[in-house]
Amino acid sequence: MDKIVAFCKRRGFVYQSSEIYGGIRSSYDYGPLGVEMKRNIKEEWWRRLVHMREDVVGLDAAIIMHPRVWEASGHTATFNDMLVESRTSGRRYRADHLIEDATGADAEGMSAEEMTKIIAEDDRIKDPVDGGRDFAPVRPFNLMFETYTGPVKSPENVVYLRPETAQGIFVNFKNVTQTTRVKVPFGIAQQGKSFRNEITPGNFIFRTREFEQMEMEFFVEPGTDEEWHEYWLEQRWNWYTSLGINPENLRFYEHPREKLSHYAKRTVDIEYNFPFRGWSELEGIANRTDFDLKQHAQFSGENLEYFDQGTNKRYVPYVIEPAAGPDRIMLAFLVDAYREEEVNGESRTVLKLHPRIAPTKAAVFPLSKKEPVSTIARQLYDELKGDYRLFYDDSGSIGRRYRRQDEAGTPFCVTVDFETAEDKQVTIRDRDTLEQERVPITAVRERLQG
Ligand code: GAP
Repeated sequence: MDKIVAFCKRRGFVYQSSEIYGGIRSSYDYGPLGVEMKRNIKEEWWRRLVHMREDVVGLDAAIIMHPRVWEASGHTATFNDMLVESRTSGRRYRADHLIEDATGADAEGMSAEEMTKIIAEDDRIKDPVDGGRDFAPVRPFNLMFETYTGPVKSPENVVYLRPETAQGIFVNFKNVTQTTRVKVPFGIAQQGKSFRNEITPGNFIFRTREFEQMEMEFFVEPGTDEEWHEYWLEQRWNWYTSLGINPENLRFYEHPREKLSHYAKRTVDIEYNFPFRGWSELEGIANRTDFDLKQHAQFSGENLEYFDQGTNKRYVPYVIEPAAGPDRIMLAFLVDAYREEEVNGESRTVLKLHPRIAPTKAAVFPLSKKEPVSTIARQLYDELKGDYRLFYDDSGSIGRRYRRQDEAGTPFCVTVDFETAEDKQVTIRDRDTLEQERVPITAVRERLQG
């Protein structure tokens, strides 16, 4: 992990937030390469889930929503983690994690009282910082960030930063069905920031308090939900593997029935085997039934039924929800692609990222700063820069320039040399095979597609 964090900083993928002030825990900034990579992940999700489908439309809802939304969704009452404070170090921990780490027992879903009792009685449970055993009673801690609208900080002005993007979709179900021609089965997709006041954020960008989500609510006729759930499990698995993730590092994890969220009939996660924390959730794919639409209908008084004109049936649709996080996915792509290799007796660090995910599609290298090489290389760069994210580099030896691009994950390097003026050809070097191919300048655009 330390290696990845240092690498991300050195190459401008991810920086600690507010670093010149000593940093702030669990907040990160995406640097020049990181922002391109995260945008590519979101773009690939959007392309595949929205643009390439006739049955999914997009949405961009506000982060600050009516507070009643969170009452209806259950977040005000139940979006809690169990918090325990050590009286010796003053540190706060997630009580279930503290118990699980010390005893191996499964504490998820236990009540605050049960956890308090176990912590008091089991000697193995100690404050990880100072080994103390004096803990305050466990209490539920709501993860929603509170703020106020307007100048008066009074209880009636409390609003929350959304803890998931999904609710913005449910509350717009009626708008979308009335203003577009979608017909069940159909989906509404959204990407954007969510906020959770996590008690124990950590593992770099794996768990932060401010993060992004990519969620799609797919509305189906009740009775067809289980089939659609299977369909979306397969679709989402294929998205990862088609973008180059090693399938051996992926698995499905079926949530046990007794641990399902209050809204779910079935949830299956796609997990990635992170070297520093083992199998961990990248994405959850849930059958949310008609829970959310029914709750919002009840709390708002609006009728959120769907009328199927084909069958003359009226019903509240069920929902299949693939819910992913691009920050976490980016970490998985990075560790999956990171290699230290020996090539021709030299070592290199390389990110074997899929060309659609790599921050830079190609680097353009003039072999020399002299004419006509330099002008031809510039022209090629200018011609292609509207279509691809490119990097122009004319400094240092070619070997060094290759190594810099290998580390950045750039799949192709295009070199213009003195012969180019004569034969109108350039050399394209492949990051992974290291093969060098001579191709006409006019063929470069097509070669970079893929
Ligand atoms: N609407 C359902 C929902 O929000 P979730 O499993 O809590 O489900 C979905 O979140 C995804 O959002 C997770 O699989 C993860 O990728 C991402 N995510 C959740 N909490 C996160 C956090 N604190 N930091 C980074 N990503 C997070």
